[in-house]
Amino acid sequence: MFWFGFFASVGFFATIRNASQATALSLSTNDGGVSRRDLLIGGTAALITTSSPLALPDCVHAAGDNELPIAVLGASGRTGALCVASCLRRGLPVRALTRTGAWPPPKIDLRAVGFDGDATTSNPLLTVGACDVKDADSLASSLLGCRAVIYAASASKAGGNSKDIDADGVIAAGKACLTNKVGRYVVISSGSTTRPNSLGFKFTEMAVAGIMTNKRLGEVGVAEMYANSGKSSFTIIRPGGLDEPKVKTIQGPTALEISQGDVLAGFVNRADVAEVSVEMALSSAPNIQNTAFEVYYKNNVVPVDKKYRKYLDPDNGVVKRLSGNTYEELFRGIKANYDYLGDP
Ligand SMILES: NC(=O)c1ccc[n+]([C@@H]2O[C@H](COP(=O)([O-])OP(=O)(O)OC[C@H]3O[C@@H](n4cnc5c(N)ncnc54)[C@H](OP(=O)(O)O)[C@@H]3O)[C@@H](O)[C@H]2O)c1
Repeated sequence: MFWFGFFASVGFFATIRNASQATALSLSTNDGGVSRRDLLIGGTAALITTSSPLALPDCVHAAGDNELPIAVLGASGRTGALCVASCLRRGLPVRALTRTGAWPPPKIDLRAVGFDGDATTSNPLLTVGACDVKDADSLASSLLGCRAVIYAASASKAGGNSKDIDADGVIAAGKACLTNKVGRYVVISSGSTTRPNSLGFKFTEMAVAGIMTNKRLGEVGVAEMYANSGKSSFTIIRPGGLDEPKVKTIQGPTALEISQGDVLAGFVNRADVAEVSVEMALSSAPNIQNTAFEVYYKNNVVPVDKKYRKYLDPDNGVVKRLSGNTYEELFRGIKANYDYLGDP
């Protein structure tokens, strides 16, 4: 699918489409910090635990349960496969869930995230399973016993349309996470989902019928579902355009910028989106919970609409442009419970 229009669109934003979009996620300015401990990545290889439901703890705590797998839905996709490989590289148990049950996908170079090891089920860190996100029963059983879930599926010819996969599937997977007391639910969405009158939204919406509308419905549905979710939390990642970057390997935190508001954008490759997704799955830091943010390379940032040009100024006082030499630094200024900036 094509997000080239993402930048072509720079210039013409408008208003929130409906009240539900505006109110589903509350704007917040609380600024909880990310501790080093919260962001520590478990590096110890461990056998996959296949706990029965009765053996599950009250809630799976993302930061501390390195023996439980991270599940990746849509693991055959270009970003999903790299999320799986990123977990393997880190020595973390991972459950690759694909529509067909086949993994790894033959055309995806897993070295993009620095993984050059055994990508078969001979690797004790890896389990592979079939999970069609349209099937609630399959989601419920597939996500059982996971510490975190990354939703990397999106509409495909054989898999389902954007309503099925980018809205209903996102919500159904969130429901399965809550039922199974999965600690963290990370959704890979898209920049501009809250800007229905922008050219970027319109272009993408046409390229894959209804996809931006449905991604937004998925975001809102997840936020509503997690309103009283106790210890479980979600994070919505809104990447910029994925197709343009010519360098396919990880560029890392120093190359990235994060902002919140859905007013700034840029390109970013799938390897970096996968890395950020796994970092988000691993963290239980308070400030990244139940929130949404945009991520893109900081070397070519543009406003999503010309009226948001003022937010390019690092001293604009409203939208923070976050950067850092480490993920810890990059994520430190993320605000919890945030959706997007209302029009001034
Ligand atoms: N392209 C861009 O510039 C851009 C920009 C911003 C955000 N995004 C978003 O970033 C995410 C990752 O994008 P991508 O291009 O890496 O994804 P992708 O390669 O298109 O992968 C999507 C995956 O979803 C799977 N899928 C479809 N229906 C399914 C079902 N019913 N059950 C389980 N899996 C199913 C597909 O599997 P099958 O092929 O087997 O059906 C496919 O492997 C997507 O949400 C995308 O919309 C993209």
